Amino acid sequence: MANNVTVVDHPLVQHKLALMRRRETTTAEFRTLLREISLLLAYEVTRDLPLTEVEIETPLAKTKGPKLEGKKMVLISILRAGNGLLEGMLDLVPSARVGHIGLYRDPETLVAVEYYFKVPEGLEERQVIVVDPMLATGNSAAAALSRIKDAGARTIKYVCLLAAPEGIEALGEAHPDVPIYTAAIDERLNEHGYIVPGLGDAGDRLYGTK
Ligand code: URA
Repeated sequence: MANNVTVVDHPLVQHKLALMRRRETTTAEFRTLLREISLLLAYEVTRDLPLTEVEIETPLAKTKGPKLEGKKMVLISILRAGNGLLEGMLDLVPSARVGHIGLYRDPETLVAVEYYFKVPEGLEERQVIVVDPMLATGNSAAAALSRIKDAGARTIKYVCLLAAPEGIEALGEAHPDVPIYTAAIDERLNEHGYIVPGLGDAGDRLYGTK
């Protein structure tokens, strides 16, 4: 197992994740739970952001207080399910800049093909957090990270909700410099590339498309 994986085992995260996994959880409940969990994941993934001291004035006195250092961070959603994680993160970090990347797998070559890419300027100088709920084979995650690095990103973290051991392995091999944050590591992938026990298709469950 790659050593750059953080499992966010907070009881609230684990409780909400178990609710999300249940077959009978509705689309509305699923979406709300993902938004709540993503806020908690955002709390963990931003834990080591650098701070700088600035002068502030309270109603009583002048003092100094910490402020986030550097340029605003960037959240990049891997479409479409990534948007479910994005929303809760933006609740916590509303001034973050946002990018989107869309990839599909060519059914013949199985290569990830980009169909959408829009990210903020200045990735070189920003903390970049890439979000996608399901780290399954790791192929599209690895392709997305390569593309985001090509666009200039240097400091990247990857946040998902569930990870398969196979995906962690693949992503760790392709991008050993990118720490992975997840709420759980499940048993395995099935023959269709779904995480088991997992929660099914995150995009379909989020948007009610099945
Ligand atoms: N994508 C999903 O939405 N679910 C899985 O189990 C694997 C990939």
